[in-house]
Amino acid sequence: MFSCSPNSEHAPAADVSEIDKKVDSLLALMSVDEKIGQMTQLTLDMVCYGEPYALSEPHTIDTAKLDVVINQLHVGSILNCGGHSYPREKWLDMIGDIQRKASKTRLGIPILYGIDAIHGVTYTDSSTLFPQQIALAATWDTALVRQLAEMSAYEVRASGIRWNFSPVLDIARDPRWPRFWETFGEDVKLASDFGEAMVQGYQGDAIGDAHVAACLKHFMGYSVTLSGKDRTQAWIAERQLREYFLPTFERAMDAGAMSIMINSGEINGIPVHVNKNILTDLLRNELGFEGVAVTDWEDIKYLVTRHRVAATYKDAIEMSLAAGIDMSMVPVDLEFPVLLKQLVLEGRVTEERLDLSVRRILKMKYKLGLFETGVPTIADYPKFGSEEHHALALKAAHESIVLLKNDNLLPLSEGAKILVIGDGANSLNILNGGWTRTWQGADPQYNTPDRATVYEALQQHSDNVQWITEQEFLSMRMTQKYDCIVAVISESTYTEKPGDIEDLSIPLQSARVIDKLDYLQLPSLVLLIEGRPRVLPASIEKINSVMLAMLPGDFGGEAIADIVFGKFNPCGKLPFTYPRHASSHTTYDHKYTDRIDTDFSQNAFDPLYTFGSGLAYTTFAYSGLQIERNELGMDDTLRVDVEVSNTGNRAGAEVVQLYVSDSVATITPSVKRLRGYRRIEMAEGSQQQVRFDIPVRELAFVGQDLKWVLEPGKFSVQIDTLVIPFTVR
Ligand code: GLC
Repeated sequence: MFSCSPNSEHAPAADVSEIDKKVDSLLALMSVDEKIGQMTQLTLDMVCYGEPYALSEPHTIDTAKLDVVINQLHVGSILNCGGHSYPREKWLDMIGDIQRKASKTRLGIPILYGIDAIHGVTYTDSSTLFPQQIALAATWDTALVRQLAEMSAYEVRASGIRWNFSPVLDIARDPRWPRFWETFGEDVKLASDFGEAMVQGYQGDAIGDAHVAACLKHFMGYSVTLSGKDRTQAWIAERQLREYFLPTFERAMDAGAMSIMINSGEINGIPVHVNKNILTDLLRNELGFEGVAVTDWEDIKYLVTRHRVAATYKDAIEMSLAAGIDMSMVPVDLEFPVLLKQLVLEGRVTEERLDLSVRRILKMKYKLGLFETGVPTIADYPKFGSEEHHALALKAAHESIVLLKNDNLLPLSEGAKILVIGDGANSLNILNGGWTRTWQGADPQYNTPDRATVYEALQQHSDNVQWITEQEFLSMRMTQKYDCIVAVISESTYTEKPGDIEDLSIPLQSARVIDKLDYLQLPSLVLLIEGRPRVLPASIEKINSVMLAMLPGDFGGEAIADIVFGKFNPCGKLPFTYPRHASSHTTYDHKYTDRIDTDFSQNAFDPLYTFGSGLAYTTFAYSGLQIERNELGMDDTLRVDVEVSNTGNRAGAEVVQLYVSDSVATITPSVKRLRGYRRIEMAEGSQQQVRFDIPVRELAFVGQDLKWVLEPGKFSVQIDTLVIPFTVR
């Protein structure tokens, strides 16, 4: 288990009923203005010198602005950085100023500060940056992800912050979507397991002083817009919403998540921020979630200016509160509290409605210890950016890299002669992606010092590494021989709307590089560094080796080089289906009708690389698949055993994956669904028995009545290529 700071012996979980009493007595003292202030969240820009999005450097708290925000508007929450990362000292100073100002107010309610620390505390300089979520999912290692979340929480707290807008629990079903890489991939079970692990890591069993509040996002149905573009319209039937897009949130809520952030988009013509069915009937009444529901960025105002479901900002506030919002991430105007006060005075919003949200917000602040402990000092968190943290981030980067193809090229010998092609080969930014030191992650001036790019890391293993651009490669005659040509095909960094694309294919010039490598039959590795699976030219099938690094973080260059030179045996597995064609994408859990093209000798489900695939520098074989009983009742457990052998000449890790197929059902069944997996380390030449116990109930689906249902019938279980039928009666 990851060790925390010395004085973080888990403070005993404050007795919840104790907290309720404190909340009730505090609430009873609060004015309407103070209650409205607690529901108001502003970005840091609003209390600094300069204009929002264009602060004067160095970013400094403007005490006059802070006075208005805290003393006049009683604002209870502040988020974000002012556009780029800061040293930890600066964070502690600024948040110290803010909390001191808050402590001097009539009731002294502390400020709840929130940040996007989605792969480490990215807005604090020199913090430990580990892989983005999609790369974490490629590890299939939930225990590791819990440790990473613990480490991240420690470094967030070391920055004086206690609320992390993470994890993303959207399911990535459309590779065009620019936030694909912020998710745990396309599978519901895998993403649910990782989301639970991350929440447990952030929040612990009880909030100590090395834990933060998690924030589940973006609730819900955010990732499958018709256009594949961020924040555009989605058409999702409730049955699919419940079967594919709700489970990750439910699991994370069951893990105790303290807050949730709402999807900025619309589903079936209704912006989620005004959808009472989702925000109250489902979230509160059906799921019983008691945490804080915070809007996404400016989303109440966007009901007027984007969605056009409200004529005025005031109407939008009334509509979103009626739907179930607790806190508005305003975050760049001072009107929200003023307009909400008017709504209360006009009787359009009752004080009881305010109390409902303020109670949740105060409860969260008490649970986070904000009333008990103040802003830490640098000395309180000695492991911030420590070697121990770096080692964990490097481990995650190693495990996240997926070797998709390897025709006898890798690993290379130390000292090999290498030609590296592509701008991304010498960029730390493309290894981290968005939400890194800046929102879009593009500005190298804030990069962590002394982290190796791919090119620099390869040079640690060979003095014979040359780096050229794509244009130079395309225009040059190959006069020298190389042991390996590494073509780095990378995406620029992006998140949200700036990451929207018109074509999933890689740029033409990069495709030409791959074509030329094929044409010249050069010993080549295509190294993909990308946030989503970009489509490649057909010539990729002729390339010796293909490796995928989905934003592996600050230690990604080192991890890639370790794998290229065989210091680490790759073990990543795809957490999504890699498409072969830009306009033909189907996920692994597709339906049988996705395969009938073969009836007309056309390609049906024909991805470039399949979900769950990934190679190693050793091989594994499966045998002896057996099930304890091949006739099971609804409340039984499906017990499956299989033998795995490491048939190669070096130790390695394998992810044993168990899929179940339902042969007939009243809802068209998927061809298969992941129902279990186990990551195992295996010595050279070893065998291991692996056992799965799958509750039969977990094979259920959401039926026509929108309830989870399991129907008797014929099923089959599959591990690798081994298949055994069984019956549920
Ligand atoms: C952004 C994102 C959300 C993030 C929030 C605060 O618009 O959609 O993921 O947590 O604003 O930065």
